[in-house]
Amino acid sequence: MNDQLPDPVAGPLIRPRRLRTTPALRRMVGETSLEARQLVLPLFVREGLDEPRPISSMPGVVQHTRDSLLTAVAEAADLGLGGVMLFGIPESKDATGSGAIDPGGVLNLAITDVVAEVGDALTVMSDLCLDEFTDHGHCGVLTPDGKVDNDRTLEAYAEMARAQAHAGVDMVGPSGMMDGQVAVIRAALDAAEHSDVSILAYSAKYASAFFGPFREAVDSSLQGDRRTYQQDPGNAREGVREALLDVAEGADIVMVKPALAYLDVLHRVREAVDVPVAAYNISGEYAMVEAAAANGWIEREAAILETLTSIRRAGADVVLTYWASEVARLLAR
Ligand code: PBG
Repeated sequence: MNDQLPDPVAGPLIRPRRLRTTPALRRMVGETSLEARQLVLPLFVREGLDEPRPISSMPGVVQHTRDSLLTAVAEAADLGLGGVMLFGIPESKDATGSGAIDPGGVLNLAITDVVAEVGDALTVMSDLCLDEFTDHGHCGVLTPDGKVDNDRTLEAYAEMARAQAHAGVDMVGPSGMMDGQVAVIRAALDAAEHSDVSILAYSAKYASAFFGPFREAVDSSLQGDRRTYQQDPGNAREGVREALLDVAEGADIVMVKPALAYLDVLHRVREAVDVPVAAYNISGEYAMVEAAAANGWIEREAAILETLTSIRRAGADVVLTYWASEVARLLAR
């Protein structure tokens, strides 16, 4: 008889449940940690607001004023978070997203404010993409016939990288999925004597329905979809390829996004690269848990912790989550 199988008379010899007996024992043998330092809080700052404006599809998340943003980042620093990821929403948008490059643009001003507030207690990151700034809502500039123009967009990204570095950012987050964006941004930063600014590359980013609430968060005017630049949800090998390309182009950290519907991609990327891997627990993933919890259908805190633990277990070293500050408070309890 195979001695791996339980003897029906003597009962099972091997009892995995033994290690689950007490909370202390479960804690001791736990494989996956969740710590404040691994969490990054995404924050929205909107030009021209007098007070924070709630985002209805993301209960508990707001568009910040310049002042309320500073309160949120000071709290994030006190809680020991890994960092913050800043998104700016300009008062007016145009075809080329010029507000992204303007040194007086909402995001560039916010970077300077935030760095002044927290110093190096937090890693200050900024979204490097045009979609919050363009009137058509795409992540790049368009050709006369309305296609997203990869190489002209790269020129804009290079300028945006210089502006953000000049404003004082620690790490830029190119999220537009243009080919060659990491290499162009790295070269632009280095040429402007900002070789100390690092790059968190949104490497495997999928054309996802779960970005829905984010479109409200940034007042997006996008018509249609991003399928000519973001990846097809069915493609996992391609996600690994994108991550390897970004590492070769100089990415310091690579990211998979969304997280939950792509945990297999996250796992494969973690195995394939030797830089830190991040995952973005995005707006729609947040909204699903909040909506179900608000209906009393799931237990909110347990669902949040299980969600973030699963993303860590799949291979994320760093997790971007709208729950970062709340979870840091829970973990300290
Ligand atoms: C693009 C960007 C998006 C998100 C982060 N950066 C939106 C998109 O690609 O459509 C989504 C984040 C979220 O849904 O929480 N600048």
